[in-house]
Amino acid sequence: MFIKNIRLKNYRNYKELNLNIDKRFNVIYGDNAQGKTNILEAIYICSSGRSHRTSRDVELVNHESKSYYIKIDVEKKILNSEIEVQYENEGKKKLRINEIPLKKIGDLMGNLNTVLFSPEDLLIIKEGPSERRRFIDITISQLKPSYFYDLQQYMKILDQRNSLLKDIQNNRKLLDTLDVWNENIIKTGSRIMKTRKEFMDKLSKFAKTEHEKLTGGLETLNIRYNPSFPVNRFDDIKEIENDYRKSLERNKEKEIFKCTTLIGPQRDDYEIFLDQKSLKMYGSQGQQRTAVLSVKMAEIDIMKEETGEWPVLLLDDVLSELDSKRQEYLFENITGIQVFITCTEKSFFSAKASERADFFKVTKGVVIKE
Ligand SMILES: Nc1ncnc2c1ncn2[C@@H]1O[C@H](COP(=O)(O)OP(=O)(O)O)[C@@H](O)[C@H]1O
Ligand SMILES: [Mg+2]
Repeated sequence: MFIKNIRLKNYRNYKELNLNIDKRFNVIYGDNAQGKTNILEAIYICSSGRSHRTSRDVELVNHESKSYYIKIDVEKKILNSEIEVQYENEGKKKLRINEIPLKKIGDLMGNLNTVLFSPEDLLIIKEGPSERRRFIDITISQLKPSYFYDLQQYMKILDQRNSLLKDIQNNRKLLDTLDVWNENIIKTGSRIMKTRKEFMDKLSKFAKTEHEKLTGGLETLNIRYNPSFPVNRFDDIKEIENDYRKSLERNKEKEIFKCTTLIGPQRDDYEIFLDQKSLKMYGSQGQQRTAVLSVKMAEIDIMKEETGEWPVLLLDDVLSELDSKRQEYLFENITGIQVFITCTEKSFFSAKASERADFFKVTKGVVIKE
C-alpha cells in the first residue's frame, strides 16, 4: 500500500500541512525539533489508532488550538482508504474511513499497515516485558482485528477478576464466583496466547532468514515465546485452556493473598537469542541493533505474506544508528515498499539512493518539497 496524501491541521507544531506524495522513497530532513517525527507519528496514528510516543491526545493538539485533524489517503490493491482522525480537547477521538465514522478503534486496523523503526525499538530488547508485548500486540492487531478486540476484552475481564480477588480476601463466600471469572479469562486468554504463539513462530522464522542475510550467515537468530505458565501444546486451543485452568487452580491461594491475577497474557514475554545465547544479556550494542533490524524486516515479510500488500515503512532517525553496510542492505531490500525516512542531513544518501527519492525539508512545522 502507498500513501498518496497527508493532511494535518493544528497537529503538534503543524498549523496546516498538505503534502502530495508521489514516490516510494521519501526523505524528510531538517534540524532537530522541527517536526520530522511528528509527520511519522501522524501516519502511525492513522495506522494503529494511537501515537507511539504518547497515549494522551491532548499532547498532539497544537498549543494554540483546541482540536487536531489528520487525513491520510492510502492507495491499495483492492479498496483505497481515506483515513481521517479528528480530536477535540476533552472529547473522544473520532475516526472515519472513506467518510464513514468508525464505531471502534479496532475497525481502523488493516486500513493502513505500517512498520515503524525508531531508536526506541532497542527497548524491545533492553526493557521489560511490557515493551516487548506492546510491540507484538500492535503488529498482530494490524493483521488481525479480532486479536485487538480480544486484548481489550481480556483487560476488562482481568480488571474485574482482580477486584473480585480483593473482595474474596474479605469475604470467602465469594470464592464460588471465581470459577465463572476463570472460565471467562481462560477463553479469551487462551485465544490471545494461541495467536501470540503462532505469530512468534512466524516472526522467528522470518527474522532468522533476515538475520542470516544481514550477517552473511555468521549468526543464527531465534525468538522464543515464554508464556506465564507451562503449555504442552499450542496447536489445540483446548490444550491451552486445560493447562490454563490447572495453572489458575495451582495459583489460587497465592492470587487471593496477593489480590491479583498472577498468570495469563499480561505476564507473557519472549526472548531473542543469537546462537542460543540471550541477546539481552550477552549481545553487544551492534548485535542488538542488527537483530532489531532483522525483526523489523521480518515484520514486513509477515505483513506482506498475510495481506498480500507491502506495509509502509517508517524509519525514524535510524540511519545514523546503522553502519554503512547495514544501510546499504536496507536500501537494497526495500525497493518495492514505500518508505518515509527522517534524518538531519540529506548528504546521508548516496547519489544512487537520491535518484529515486523525494526530499522534504522541514523547518518549524513547514515542509518544502524539493
Ligand atoms: N502540541 C504541540 N503544539 C505545538 N508544538 C508542538 C506540540 N508538540 C510538540 N511540538 C513541537 O514539535 C517539535 C518536535 O517535533 P519532532 O517531530 O519530534 O521533531 P524532530 O524534527 O526532531 O523529529 C518541537 O519543536 C516541539 O516543541
Ligand atoms: Mg525526531
